[in-house]
Amino acid sequence: MQQALLAPPLRSNLDPRSPDFAENREAMLKKLEQLEALLDEAEQGGGAHHHERLAKRGKLPVRERIALALDPDSPFLEISSLAAYNSSYTIGGGAVMGIGIIAGVECVIFANDPTVLGGALTPYVSKKWMRALEIARDNHIPYVSFVESAGADLRMRGAGEKNESSSPASARVDHFAESGRFFYEMTELSKLDIPTVCVVFGSSTAGGAYQPGLSDYNVVIKEQSKIFLAGPPLVKMATGEESDDETLGGAQMHADVSGLGEYLAEDEPDALRLCREIVSHLNWRKAGPPPSLRADPPLLDPEELLGTMDPDLKRPVDIRDVIGRVVDGSRFEEFKPRYGPTLVCGFASIHGYPVGILGNNGVIYPESAEKGAHFVQLCNQIDVPLVFLQNLTGFIVGRDYEHAGIIKKGSQLINAVTNSTVPHLTVIVGASYGAGTYAMSGRAFNNRFTFIWPSAKIAVMGGKQIAGVMSIVRRGQAARKGEAFDEEADAQIRAAVEDMQEKGSIALEASGAISDDGIIDPRDTRTVLGICLSVVRNTPIEGAEGYGVFRL
Ligand code: COA
Repeated sequence: MQQALLAPPLRSNLDPRSPDFAENREAMLKKLEQLEALLDEAEQGGGAHHHERLAKRGKLPVRERIALALDPDSPFLEISSLAAYNSSYTIGGGAVMGIGIIAGVECVIFANDPTVLGGALTPYVSKKWMRALEIARDNHIPYVSFVESAGADLRMRGAGEKNESSSPASARVDHFAESGRFFYEMTELSKLDIPTVCVVFGSSTAGGAYQPGLSDYNVVIKEQSKIFLAGPPLVKMATGEESDDETLGGAQMHADVSGLGEYLAEDEPDALRLCREIVSHLNWRKAGPPPSLRADPPLLDPEELLGTMDPDLKRPVDIRDVIGRVVDGSRFEEFKPRYGPTLVCGFASIHGYPVGILGNNGVIYPESAEKGAHFVQLCNQIDVPLVFLQNLTGFIVGRDYEHAGIIKKGSQLINAVTNSTVPHLTVIVGASYGAGTYAMSGRAFNNRFTFIWPSAKIAVMGGKQIAGVMSIVRRGQAARKGEAFDEEADAQIRAAVEDMQEKGSIALEASGAISDDGIIDPRDTRTVLGICLSVVRNTPIEGAEGYGVFRL
C-alpha cells in the first residue's frame, strides 16, 4: 500500500441534523434538479425532429458517437455542457466537448452536433472549439474531432448577444476575423507533437472542411462523409461547373483520389473503431509522475457537501468543511493556521496526487494575501499542483487596511499566482467577487480548469454593493449641481440594478457564457479534480524557477 501524508484527518463542526444544514441541502438539491432538466434539454440538441432525421439516415446522435469511441465504463468529463444558457441559441451551444479515455489515452474530444443548425459554427460552437484546442495544448493531450459542420453560421445575426435583433455588423466581422484562429491553433498542435485525429461524419463544408484539412489523421465514412470547400450549388454559382456531392467531395473520392482521407470506414461504428485504433498506435506516454500517495476516500462524508453552502452565500462557511470532504482520508496539513486565517492553505492529496490547497474563509486581509503568496511559492519549489477553492467577497477595504498595505500584499499574491508554473485547478464553491477572483487563480489567470458549484456566484462585487456605490455617485452629482436628490427614483434604480446584478452573477449565467468549464454537483468535486489532476500529468509538473522562496 502506498504511503499516505502523515497529516491528521480534519474534524468538522458541520451538524447534518441542524435546520441550517437541512435548508442548505434542500436548496442545493433544487438547483441540481434544475441542472438535470437543463442537461436533458441539452441532450435533445436541435430537437426530436432533427434526431428522427438523423436516425432515418442511419446516423448516431453525437453523444452515442462519443460513447462508442471511449473505453468501456470510462468517465467522460463534459466541458461547458450548458453553454448558451439563457441565450437565443440551443442550450449546449451546438457542440459536445470534453475529456475522455480512448484506448487508454486521455484525449480532448470536440464533436459537432449535426441536429443544431447542421453543425454550423455559431459563436458558442466557436468558443467551445477554441477551449477544446486550449485544453489539448495546455495539457498536451491528443485532440480528436468528430466533424459534421455546415461551416459558418450564415444567418444574419449578432455574435451571441442576447438580443440578436440588434445584430451589429461589427460583431459579425469580429466573429469572422477571430474564427480564423482555429486553423492556426489546430496547425500549431501538430507542431507541438500533439496528435490531431478527425472523423468526418457528414457534410463538412468550407470552414468545416479545414478541420480534416489540418488534422494529422482523417477517417472518412463511405457514402456519408462529404468534404468540400464549396458544395455543388456554390461551385455552379462560382464557375458554372455541374457536380454532385459524391464526385465533388465524397468519402470514396477523398480516400482514392485526393488523398485527404487516410482511412475509409464502412459506417459510423467502423469509423469509431478506426479512431480508437489510431489513438492506440500513438505510443502515448505521460510526461508527469503517476499518483504517489495513498488514495483512500475522505473520512468525512462527501454527501454532506450538499449542506455546506448557504444559498445566499452570506453565512460564513469554514472551507475546511469542504476540504475534508474532498481530499484523501480527509488528511490536511494546514500551513500557518494562526496567521491570516481568512485564507486557509495546506497540503493534501486527491486520488493519490499531492496538492497544495488555498481556500477562502472570507475576505482576504493583508496577512492572508502574504501567507497565500508564500504558500504558492512553496508548492512551486516542490512541483505540487495547486487547487483553489474560491469563496470570497474580495480584498478587505478601509483605512486601516490601506495603511497595512493591502494593495501591496494583494499584488504579492497576484504576482505569485501569475508566475506559478505548476498546474492550477479552481473550483468556485461560493462567492467569487472582485480582484480576489483573479488572485485565487480565476479563468483569466491561465488555470488549467475552472468548475463552479450550482449555488456559486461570480461578479465584480455583490448586487447591493454595486447599486449602493452608484447611488452614492448620483447623490454626489446632484449635490455638486445644487439639485434636489430624487430618493424615490434612486430607490427604484437601486432595486433594478441589484436584481439585474444578482441574476447575472449566478453560476448558470457564467457557465452559459463559457466563462468556466461547467457546473458540477458538489459531491463530484473529488472525482472531477481527480480526473483533472490525472490530465494535467500529461505535461511535466514543474514549479517556477529563478528565485527561491521569499519569506513574506
Ligand atoms: N448556417 C446556419 N444554419 C444553417 C447552415 C448554416 N451554414 N446550414 C444549414 N443550416 C440550418 C438550416 O437552416 C436548418 O435549420 P432548421 O433546423 O431551423 O430547419 C438546419 O441547419 C438543417 O439544415 P438542412 O439543410 O435541413 O439539413 P441537412 O442535414 O439536410 O443538410 C447541410 C445539412 C449542412 C448539408 C446543408 O444544410 C447545407 O449544405 N448547408 C449550407 C452549408 C454551406 O454552404 N456552408 C457554407 C459555409 S461558409
